[in-house]
Amino acid sequence: MSKRPYVLASAATSLDGYLDDTSDERLLLSSPEDFERVGQVRGGVDAILVGANTIRADNPRLLSRSGPNPVKVTITGSGKLDPEAGFFTTGDVEKLVYAPSSVARRLELPATVVDAGEPLDIHRVLADLAERGIQRLMVEGGSAIHTLFFTEGLVDELQLVIAPFFVGEAGAPRFVGPGSFPQGRMLLAETRQLGDVVLLRYLTGQGATDFTRLREAAELAENCPPSTTFRVGSIVTDSRNTVLATGFSGETDPHDHAEEAALAKLGNDPRLAEATIYSSLEPCSSRASRPLSCTRHILDAGIPRVVFAWREPNLFVDAQGTELLRAAGREVVEIPELAYLVRRANSHLPGVSEEPTA
Ligand SMILES: NC(=O)c1ccc[n+]([C@@H]2O[C@H](COP(=O)([O-])OP(=O)(O)OC[C@H]3O[C@@H](n4cnc5c(N)ncnc54)[C@H](OP(=O)(O)O)[C@@H]3O)[C@@H](O)[C@H]2O)c1
Ligand SMILES: [Zn+2]
Repeated sequence: MSKRPYVLASAATSLDGYLDDTSDERLLLSSPEDFERVGQVRGGVDAILVGANTIRADNPRLLSRSGPNPVKVTITGSGKLDPEAGFFTTGDVEKLVYAPSSVARRLELPATVVDAGEPLDIHRVLADLAERGIQRLMVEGGSAIHTLFFTEGLVDELQLVIAPFFVGEAGAPRFVGPGSFPQGRMLLAETRQLGDVVLLRYLTGQGATDFTRLREAAELAENCPPSTTFRVGSIVTDSRNTVLATGFSGETDPHDHAEEAALAKLGNDPRLAEATIYSSLEPCSSRASRPLSCTRHILDAGIPRVVFAWREPNLFVDAQGTELLRAAGREVVEIPELAYLVRRANSHLPGVSEEPTA
C-alpha cells in the first residue's frame, strides 16, 4: 500500500446530523469559540481538502488563525470551478486541484491541476499529496467528500462538532450519505464544550492504534524503580501492531532508558524495518549516562516510525530527538493528549506538574 498523509476529518452538524440546510445562505453551525479552534487546527496541518461543491456553495477561504496557512486541495469530477473563488484568490499558498485525466487535461485554473486517473482515484490523490510532503491533511467536507473518505477507510481522526438545534429538512446534506463504513466503533479520545456546541474527537485506524499503544507504553512507566531522572515506558510493534518488545527506564540497570531496554531485546530483528516504536517521552538525543542516545539507537535499528506523547523538557540536556529523526526521514508522530500521563509519572522532577503547562 502506498504512503498517505494522516487524515483528520472535520465537520459541524445539527442535532439531526445535517451539514447545512437547503437555503442558499451558509448555515452557521459552530460557535465563535469553535471557529477559533478550527482556525488553530488548520494552523497545525499541512493541507486542507474540500469538495468542489463546497467551494461553489460556501466559497470558503480556508485560512488558519495561527501558524502558517496550509496548502489548499480540492477534487472535482466536472472541473466546474470559478477561478475567482476565495479558494484560489486568498492565501499565499499552493492550491491543488485533482481531477480525472480527461478533465485535468483541459482544465485551466490559477492552481496546480493534477491528473488523478480515470475515473479519479482517491488513493492516488493521497499518495500524490504524500509525495508533495503533505503529512497531515484536514478534510473539511462536504457530504460527498466525507462519505468517500470514510467508506474508503481513509480517515484516522474525526473532529465532529454538534450544534444545539435541528435542521429537519429532508433535502439538506447529511454529514455522510449511505454507504459501508469499515471503521466500526471508533475510539472516543476527547469531548470538549465550546460555547453552546460540543466537540467530539474520535480516532480510528492508525490514529486509534497509536493512541491505544502509546497509552500502554505510558502506563509501563509505573514499573520504573524510583528515580531522579525520567520515568518512561516504551513498546515496539511490527507492521501489524503485534508487540515485539517492551521496556521501561531502569529495567535492568538504573541507567537504562525505556527505548534502549526494549530495543536491546530485539537485536537485528528484520521486523524492525517496518516497526513502530512508542515511547511516552520524546526519544533523547544526547545523554549524560551513556554514549548512545535513544535517537541513535532508533536510527541504527532502522525503525521507520516513532510515536511519543511528551516533548522532552530541557531539564538535563537540549532535546532534539524529533528534529534528528525527521531529518533522517523517519516519521515522528506526537500525541500531546497523552502527555498528562507522562507528567504524572514524572512529577518527582523539578518543574514538572501534572497539569498542562501550555
Ligand atoms: N458543516 C460543515 O462542517 C460543512 C463543511 C463543508 C461543507 N458543508 C456543506 O456541505 C454541502 C456540500 O456537500 P456536497 O456533498 O454537496 O459537496 P462536496 O462534498 O463539498 O463536493 C462534492 C463534489 O466533489 C467532487 N467529487 C467528490 N467525489 C468525487 C470523486 N470520487 N471523483 C471526482 N470528483 C469528486 C465532485 O465535484 P464536481 O461536482 O465538480 O464534479 C462533487 O460534486 C454544502 O451545503 C456545504 O455548506 C458543510
Ligand atoms: Zn533515551
